[in-house]
Order: sequence, then C-alpha cells, then structure tokens
Amino acid sequence: MRFIHSLSFPALLFSAMAYAKASSSDPFQIYGYGTGIGGAQLFSSGGSTYFGDYQLANDSEAAPVVFTPSNNVWLGSPNSTVFDDTNTTLPDWSNYTFSVPSSGSSSHDVSFISSSSDSSNVITTGFTFYGTFIFVTGTSGNLESLFYALPTDTDGIYKLKWNTTGDDTDDKILLTLKKTPPSSSK
Ligand SMILES: *[C@@H]1O[C@H](CO)[C@@H](O)[C@H](O)[C@H]1NC(C)=O
Ligand SMILES: *[C@@H]1O[C@H](CO)[C@@H](O)[C@H](O)[C@H]1NC(C)=O
Ligand SMILES: *[C@@H]1O[C@H](CO)[C@@H](O)[C@H](O)[C@H]1NC(C)=O
Ligand SMILES: *[C@@H]1O[C@H](CO)[C@@H](O)[C@H](O)[C@H]1NC(C)=O
Ligand SMILES: *[C@@H]1O[C@H](CO)[C@@H](O)[C@H](O)[C@H]1NC(C)=O
Repeated sequence: MRFIHSLSFPALLFSAMAYAKASSSDPFQIYGYGTGIGGAQLFSSGGSTYFGDYQLANDSEAAPVVFTPSNNVWLGSPNSTVFDDTNTTLPDWSNYTFSVPSSGSSSHDVSFISSSSDSSNVITTGFTFYGTFIFVTGTSGNLESLFYALPTDTDGIYKLKWNTTGDDTDDKILLTLKKTPPSSSK
C-alpha cells in the first residue's frame, strides 16, 4: 500500500483502531486539515466544494455537507440540523454524488454531480477511509490523497481541489481530509 501524502503510519494505525467501532455506512461530515486550515468543515451549494464557514458564502443553497456511503459512491446532502437551528430554508439539493477529476482531466475541481449533470471525466467510486483519513482508491489499488485547497476572494473560504500537477496557481495548500472535527470544537 502506497501513500502519496506523508501521513505518519502510527497515527494512521491508531485511527484505524479507533475507527473499528463505527459502521462504515454512518453519515459523516468532512473536515480539511492543512497549513492555516485547522479542521474547517466541507460545504457546498450542490456543485463545487469548499472549506470554511458556509454562511460567509451568502448563498441560500450553501450548507455543510453530510455524506452517506451508498452503492460504492458517497452521496452528499445539506446537514439539515444546521437549518433547524439557524435557518428554516433548507437548500433544494440533496443526494448529490461526490467526485474528483479523473487522471486525464484538465479540471482540478472536487465537486458534486447531480443526476442531470455531466459525469464524464470524473471519478465517483473508490472513496474510502483509512482510520478517519479519507482516500481515493487508485487504479492499482493504492490509496491516494491529492486534495489541496485554494484561497477564494472571501477570507476564510477555501475551494477544494484535486491533484496539484498541472495547476500553476500560487498559494496551493496541501490538505488532509478526515471525518473527524478538530478536537477543540467538540
Ligand atoms: C450536522 O450538524 C450538527 C450541528 O453542527 C452536528 O452536530 C452534526 O454532527 C452534523 N452531522 C453530521 C453527520 O456530522
Ligand atoms: C458575503 O457578504 C459579506 C458582507 O457583505 C462580504 O464580506 C463577503 O465577501 C460576501 N461573500 C461572498 C462570497 O460574496
Ligand atoms: C439563512 O440563510 C441565508 C443564506 O445562507 C442567510 O443569508 C440568512 O442570514 C440566514 N438566516 C438566519 C436567521 O440565519
Ligand atoms: C437519499 O438517498 C438515500 C439512500 O439511497 C435515501 O434513503 C434517501 O431517501 C434519499 N434522500 C432524498 C431526499 O432523496
Ligand atoms: C494528476 O495529474 C497528472 C497531470 O494531468 C496526471 O498525469 C496524473 O495521472 C494525475 N493523477 C491522478 C491520480 O489523477
């Protein structure tokens, strides 16, 4: 098994043991960890994916995403709990399929695919955990994590991307994705 990002093996092993208690079909949110991004939650309006405070997007369709593994894909829907508390208008989208660009794609966007959207040049299967860490299973069975973030025009919102190769943008931030929030937020 080959890891593309450098994650220390003891940390992975410990997480794998802790994870053994939970079922692999339990819903979860995704949190991003990288330089300057200490466990921000993944949010979306049903297309592109971002980390940070969804309320800063000023978009009534934006919401923290709850993921549910289903038939080899990861379905994403707005976390309805958030809207019970602060907002009665739940976004219109739900059960969109999580995807990363396929290896030949010129796109770097990690995005949700609706049943009506174009699903060519994306990978929608092979998302998996190693402990609490999120990987994509590559064609040769190796676990890949090529996630990175780019700052947006809004402070505190970062766009989630995949595979820095071929992206000449400055300020790329390599990310580790986990299904666990930072310990300070619990
Ligand atoms: C949904 O959001 C609520 C409030 O932030 C949080 O307590 C809950 O854990 C979230 N659901 C999931 C599956 O993470
Ligand atoms: C949302 O509104 C705030 C306050 O007007 C502004 O600072 C911020 O840039 C806006 N966000 C976006 C994504 O336009
Ligand atoms: C409800 O959500 C919209 C869009 O995110 C936001 O502009 C509005 O301020 C929210 N209302 C409350 C009460 O939080
Ligand atoms: C989302 O998909 C799940 C699993 O297929 C299903 O149980 C649920 O009813 C769907 N939700 C909506 C709003 O379509
Ligand atoms: C990353 O991008 C490069 C250049 O497009 C490509 O050759 C490589 O296969 C991609 N890797 C993955 C895992 O998609």
